[in-house]
Amino acid sequence: PNFPVDKPKKVLLAAPRGYCAGVDRAVIAVEKALDLYGSPVYVRKEIVHNVHVVSTLEERGAIFVNEVDEAPAGSHLVFSAHGVSPAVVKEAADRNMQTIDATCPLVTKVHREAVRFARDDYEILLIGHAGHEEVEGTAGEAPDHVTIVDSPAAVATVVVKDPNKVVWLSQTTLSVDETMETVRLLRERFPNLQDPPSDDICYATQNRQVAIKKVAPDADLVIVVGSANSSNSVRLVEVALEYGARAAYRIDYAHEVKPEWFEGVATVGVTSGASVPEDLVQDLMALLATGGYDTVEEVKTAEEDLLFSLPKELRFNVTGEE
Ligand code: F3S
Repeated sequence: PNFPVDKPKKVLLAAPRGYCAGVDRAVIAVEKALDLYGSPVYVRKEIVHNVHVVSTLEERGAIFVNEVDEAPAGSHLVFSAHGVSPAVVKEAADRNMQTIDATCPLVTKVHREAVRFARDDYEILLIGHAGHEEVEGTAGEAPDHVTIVDSPAAVATVVVKDPNKVVWLSQTTLSVDETMETVRLLRERFPNLQDPPSDDICYATQNRQVAIKKVAPDADLVIVVGSANSSNSVRLVEVALEYGARAAYRIDYAHEVKPEWFEGVATVGVTSGASVPEDLVQDLMALLATGGYDTVEEVKTAEEDLLFSLPKELRFNVTGEE
C-alpha cells in the first residue's frame, strides 16, 4: 500500500508481546501428541485463540471439536489452554478418551482457588466474560458458588446471600485497569469482599498491557496482531486507545492492514496477543517497511523467561517411563 505522510516514519515495537508460556506449552503439546500418536489427534475447542495456529495444526492432522462427544470414544483428546470444567473431564473419562490436559497452569491455579473458596462456603464473584471458555471452565468447578460479573456496569445487579462471605476471582486475560474498577465497585457494595490469594490476571496479560501503555501515547496508530476471539488481544486494542493512541486496530494477518489507516501517521505502535506466533508480527513489520516505516525502536518494559513443563501425559521417554 501507499502510506502518505511527510513526517519521519517509525515503528515502536512493544515487548513483551506474543507467545506466553501457557500458549507455547499448549501448542507444543498438540504437536507432540501428533508426533507420538499420529493423526488424528482431537482437540476440544481451539487450543489457543489464534486463527493461524489452529489452521497450521489442522494441516498437521489435528481435528478441532467443540464438545467431547464429537470425537470418537477412545480417541486422543487434548483439552485447550483455557481449561475445562470437571463435567467435561468426567465426560471424556466416561468415553474412555486418552486425554492430554493442556490447560495453562495459571488457569489451573484459579480453578484451585475456586474449589477452595467454594469448600469454605464462600460466594465467588468471578470477573470475566460470560461464554468465554476459561470462565465456563472455572465456574464449572463450583457452579453453585459462582456468579459471573462481566463488567463494572454489572456490579449494580449482583445479588449475594451473605455479603460477609464473598471473594472475587477473575479470568486471566482481562484489562487490569477495568478489573480494578470492577473490584472497587464491588467493594463499595460489599466492604468485606475478600481478595484472591494472588493475582489471577496472569503475568503475560499484565506485561503486554504495560508495554502497550508505554507505546500508545507516542503512537498515531497502534496495530495489534491477534484473533477476534482472543481476549487478551482485544484488550490490547482497548488499552492502546485508553492510553492515547489516536487509532488502534486488530488484525490476524498483515494483508488485512488498510492503507487509509496510515493517513498522516508517522509513528506506528505494534504488539501482539499472547497466542500469536512472532512470524505474523514479522510479516507485518516487513509490510510496514515497504511503506517507509523501516525505523524500528523496541519499547521493552519487562523480561520474560517463564517456561512450563509439558502436560504430564506427555512427559515420558520412548520406553514409556516418566
Ligand atoms: Fe496462561 Fe496467561 Fe498465557 S493464563 S495461557 S500465561 S495468557
